[in-house]
Amino acid sequence: MANNVKTFLNSKGKEKISMLTAYDYSTAKIMDESGVNAILVGDSLGMVCLGYKDTLSVTVDDMIHHGKAVVRGVKNAMVIIDMPFMSYEVSTEKALENAGKIIKETGAHGLKLEGGLEIVDTVAALVRAKIPVMGHLGLTPQSVNVFGGFKVQGKDASDAQRIIDSALALEKAGAFSIVLECVPSSLAKIITEKLTIPTIGIGAGVDCDGQVLVWQDSVGLFPDFTPKFVKKYAEIGSILTEAFKTYDKEVKSGEFPEEKHTFKISEEELKKLY
Ligand code: KIV
Repeated sequence: MANNVKTFLNSKGKEKISMLTAYDYSTAKIMDESGVNAILVGDSLGMVCLGYKDTLSVTVDDMIHHGKAVVRGVKNAMVIIDMPFMSYEVSTEKALENAGKIIKETGAHGLKLEGGLEIVDTVAALVRAKIPVMGHLGLTPQSVNVFGGFKVQGKDASDAQRIIDSALALEKAGAFSIVLECVPSSLAKIITEKLTIPTIGIGAGVDCDGQVLVWQDSVGLFPDFTPKFVKKYAEIGSILTEAFKTYDKEVKSGEFPEEKHTFKISEEELKKLY
C-alpha cells in the first residue's frame, strides 16, 4: 500500500518509518523502489545540489522545480516538501498562498515547516486548508544565524523544555509528524513518548519513530563535510571519482567510444555526400 498520512500515524509504536531526502527523478525512483516510506524534498538541496553555504537562499520555485521531479519518480513513498526560508513567516495568508502553490504544482503529499510555538497558528491554518504538515524542531537549519552555527539544540533544561512545549503545540495544531534534528537522544525519547504522532530523527537517537538522512550524506556523495550522526551506507563519491577519471583517460586516449557505441549510415548513402 502506498504511504500516506494515515500509514504514518498508524506506524507509531509498531513499525519504524524510513525517510530519505531526494531532489531529482532518478534518485527518487530508486529510493521508492527500495521501499523507503517517505521522501523529503528538503531545502538541504540548497547545500547539496546548489552549493550554497546554508539553506537560506532556497526559493519556493527551487522547491517546486525539484519537488515535481521527485513526485514523477515515486509510486509508493509519501513525498513531503520543505517550505523554504521566509515563505511562511511573513503572514498566514502568504504561507497559505505558498503552500497551496507548492502542493498544486508538484502533487506532493505534505509540507514540512521549521519552528515551534512561533509557527503553530500557521501550521493550524495549513492543516485547516487540508495540507498535511510535518514539523521540524531542534537544529532547524533555517535558524542557523540565530543559533550561531549548525549546533546541537536542547542541551540545557530550559531549551529542552522549549522543544518539548513546541512539539506538543505542533501536535495540537494538527501536524502529522515532527522531525527532531540534532537533539540529545534522551530528549528525543521523552518527546517521542509524549506525542501520539511519529517523530522522525536525524541526529536524535534510536528512540524516534523513524529516521531521515540527507541521501548524499548517506552514500558519501557530499564532500564538504559529514555530520557525526551520519552513517554511510556506501562510498559512491570515490566510485564516481574513479569512473570520471577513467572516462577522462579513455576519451583522451581514443579508447572511448568503441565501435559498439556508434551508429551507421549505408555506403550507398555515404556516396551521395561530398
Ligand atoms: O532539508 C532537509 O534535508 C531536512 C532534513 C535534514 C530533515 O530538513
